[in-house]
Amino acid sequence: MKIDVLTIFPEFFREVFDFGIIRRAKLAGIVEINVHDIREFTTDKHRMVDDRPFGGGDGMVLKPEPIFAAIENLLGTSDRSKYPARTKVVLLSPQGRPFKQAAAKEFADDAERILIICGRYEGVDERVNETLVTDEVSIGDYVLSGGEPAAVVVVDAIVRLLPEALGSETSAENDSFSSGLLDYPHYTRPAEFRGMRVPDVLLEGNHAEIEKWRKAKALEKTRSIRKDLLEGENGEM
Ligand code: 6GU
Repeated sequence: MKIDVLTIFPEFFREVFDFGIIRRAKLAGIVEINVHDIREFTTDKHRMVDDRPFGGGDGMVLKPEPIFAAIENLLGTSDRSKYPARTKVVLLSPQGRPFKQAAAKEFADDAERILIICGRYEGVDERVNETLVTDEVSIGDYVLSGGEPAAVVVVDAIVRLLPEALGSETSAENDSFSSGLLDYPHYTRPAEFRGMRVPDVLLEGNHAEIEKWRKAKALEKTRSIRKDLLEGENGEM
């Protein structure tokens, strides 16, 4: 998979993709990640990436020209009906479709190339959305100053689902949310730490009983803090 991040703050991403699973996936050739400075695609003297909103109001809006130029440079067209197969152009904005595990799985399974445009919270010229963007995505119901932290979240969630990105093939399937439930509690050595004991069932080696305990704990945890997951609402996508 090839991922391109378009941002006005390329320095933000200087080291963030150089750790853990993403680093390993890059080294193994499973993913290539390139970060592009939108400002490099400006052609005016002042290299302006944003401007005041028509109609008035607070804040600055990202201008369309450099974003169109960046997409044309990377994909050879700014007409989304002519993009190469299995190519997604994702706009990160608080107005987007909620990014959930099912969406991460869809991108991991269906896309070969993902271009991620990091919006500013004040906005991106709507013509970017109308023409370039295939998927407008939000990572949750809170306001970020820009799409950059969201891009890190989206890239991580997708890359770890790519075949062979994780050490053990089954670990992604056992994650929280893949099952529709929160994860069960985990313990490691020592079996007793400052008077706190690991539950006996985990020490006794009865795998059927361990499975039963884990399912019960996952359900209990989900019921107490994420009832919505059990009701099937917001459980996917
Ligand atoms: Cl993708 N961008 C911004 N600016 N704020 C957000 C977001 C994205 N997702 C949640 N809040």
